[in-house]
Amino acid sequence: MKEILKLKNLKKHFPVKNSWGTDVALVKALDGVDLKIESGKTFGIVGESGCGKTTLMRTLLRLVEPTSGSVILSEEITGNNFSSNNLEDLTSEELRYFRKQIGVVFQDPMGALNPRMLIKDIVSEPLVIHGKADNVRSRVIELLENVGLGEEHLYRYPHEFSGGQRQRIVIARALALDPKILVLDEPTSALDVSVQAQILNLLNDLQKKYDLTYIFISHDLSVIEYMCDRLAVMYLGRVVEEADTDELFSNPQHPYTKALLSATPSFDKNKDKIMILGDVPSPINYLDESKAKLATEITEQEKLEISAIEGKGIDYIVRSSLNEVIPLVQISDGHYARVRQQ
Ligand SMILES: Nc1ncnc2c1ncn2[C@@H]1O[C@H](COP(=O)(O)OP(=O)(O)O)[C@@H](O)[C@H]1O
Ligand SMILES: [Mg+2]
Repeated sequence: MKEILKLKNLKKHFPVKNSWGTDVALVKALDGVDLKIESGKTFGIVGESGCGKTTLMRTLLRLVEPTSGSVILSEEITGNNFSSNNLEDLTSEELRYFRKQIGVVFQDPMGALNPRMLIKDIVSEPLVIHGKADNVRSRVIELLENVGLGEEHLYRYPHEFSGGQRQRIVIARALALDPKILVLDEPTSALDVSVQAQILNLLNDLQKKYDLTYIFISHDLSVIEYMCDRLAVMYLGRVVEEADTDELFSNPQHPYTKALLSATPSFDKNKDKIMILGDVPSPINYLDESKAKLATEITEQEKLEISAIEGKGIDYIVRSSLNEVIPLVQISDGHYARVRQQ
């Protein structure tokens, strides 16, 4: 396996202050994530809203400073010219170079595009910022053609395009500086299903053409299954299971993974659906020790929900049972899950 990036015990805790400005709690948005990203492949990160996917992306790009842990860069990124392979230790010039090699695509293309800028200026912006201003016009046309648009779109504004076309423009811009990695944070979640498939196919074509590594974030397991070679399932700032896509979909181990999978349309109709009961717990941890731990006893809400489905033959798991932190164990080669060892 040729690694391009490695995350080591990465944590991001946001302090919560009371009205006096004193820290009273921490939001453990990211709480010790270890991942190895293979070059030229698509690595998926899946989990419900609030589990820390976007924080993972922002920490990985060093848009926010990690609380602890590190991001280790391979020679494919550093070119062996850097003073360090640890993202945290890069000089500002090295950080600039690093950022050129990672393109970013967010969920909301309208929010990512300045409504007052022409498409030609939006797509050329990274080129101008990084001093690559030669032949800008032909480069912009080439980038637009790569995503199925063209010269006729240069002098238009974002609002003149459909959602899918706008996401194409975002992708064109993300590729402007020939990055090695694209980080895609819910890139198709805001789009209609028919348009989603077109964008996903475009991304697959571009990956082959430019030998790109994708870090693909989504809450949608069907999209993840279609796109990813390998994936990590996140819950409350941690990875609860990680495996190659085929292995994870055919042999899930963690109860949360099983429940998520059972809710996807492609799930085997003959297998029982598993419902997740209870409210998504808050990642806020109070500094006051007595309130610090997430409760593992069944909650009143969960009891109510259990009684509502009682006798209907529905399988379920309760969220409180997921709050206990169990170490990651190896299930088979490359497959890890936070389950109790037999
Ligand atoms: N800047 C911030 N300050 C405080 N809390 C934050 C901040 N950014 C994210 N969070 C919290 O961290 C948790 C994870 O958020 P996020 O990474 O956006 O999740 P996801 O992308 O999976 O929906 C959420 O509870 C969110 O409210
Ligand atoms: Mg997010």
